[in-house]
Amino acid sequence: MESKWDVLSALGAITAAGLLLTGTWGVARAVYVYLLPQVRRGNAWLRAQGAWAVVTGATSGIGKAYAHELARRGLDIVLISRSLSKLEQEAREIERLHGRSTRIIQADFTGGLEIYGAIEAGLRGLEIGVLVNNVGMAYGGRGGVFRKLLDLEDLGQSVSDIINCNAMSVAQMVCIVLPQMVSRGKGVIINVSSQAGCRRGIPLRALYSATKAFV
Ligand SMILES: NC(=O)c1ccc[n+]([C@@H]2O[C@H](COP(=O)([O-])OP(=O)(O)OC[C@H]3O[C@@H](n4cnc5c(N)ncnc54)[C@H](OP(=O)(O)O)[C@@H]3O)[C@@H](O)[C@H]2O)c1
Ligand SMILES: *[C@@H]1O[C@H](CO)[C@@H](O)[C@H](O)[C@H]1NC(C)=O
Repeated sequence: MESKWDVLSALGAITAAGLLLTGTWGVARAVYVYLLPQVRRGNAWLRAQGAWAVVTGATSGIGKAYAHELARRGLDIVLISRSLSKLEQEAREIERLHGRSTRIIQADFTGGLEIYGAIEAGLRGLEIGVLVNNVGMAYGGRGGVFRKLLDLEDLGQSVSDIINCNAMSVAQMVCIVLPQMVSRGKGVIINVSSQAGCRRGIPLRALYSATKAFV
């Protein structure tokens, strides 16, 4: 009887030690990822990465928030998305609110390799310290979120669009921006993924979650 309890207490001790280690690891990681950078990597550090930040999908949602926050911290901003009027309006807004310079590039990331020449040309000569790969879409069309893949109008096109926009754009933008970051030994790249990319196969969002797993 007694030896059985010894085994159980040993198991309990190991489990408790495991939980303690996991907990400590979680706290240490939170401090390292979220708190330390606030001290060590303030606005001066951010500006030292390079004068410009490039944000894809910069005219609404998360991309817009990144564009404003980076401008507030002293970077000039290149905004990239489809609608020229939204780009112009958001660029004016950033200049007015934060007093930074802006540049806009109109591009549709559902396109293939052919769109990147113009983006590269638009970025030429800029010292880019930060790239935010934010652009992304769920299935195309209205009410796309709750529609089955096979119910999309132009299936082949939709599949190509979502892969190009969510995955290809990330890798291609890195190809354009990384060389000058490497040669300066400075720079930050932020890839915006999704919780949907952390699990395998979200119902009705399989392709979206796969592209986000890629990111
Ligand atoms: N919102 C969420 O709850 C959530 C959760 C997890 C992850 N995310 C991810 O976060 C990122 C941003 O999401 P969001 O909800 O903030 O986006 P959003 O509000 O829909 O904004 C999308 C931005 O991207 C631009 N855009 C859309 N399609 C484009 C295309 N084909 N080519 C170029 N620009 C395009 C839009 O401007 P134009 O229409 O003018 O092009 C707009 O500026 C995405 O990668 C998304 O997957 C979002
Ligand atoms: C962002 O994506 C690019 C291209 O896929 C990749 O090379 C890079 O390591 C990613 N960066 C981060 C921080 O995940």
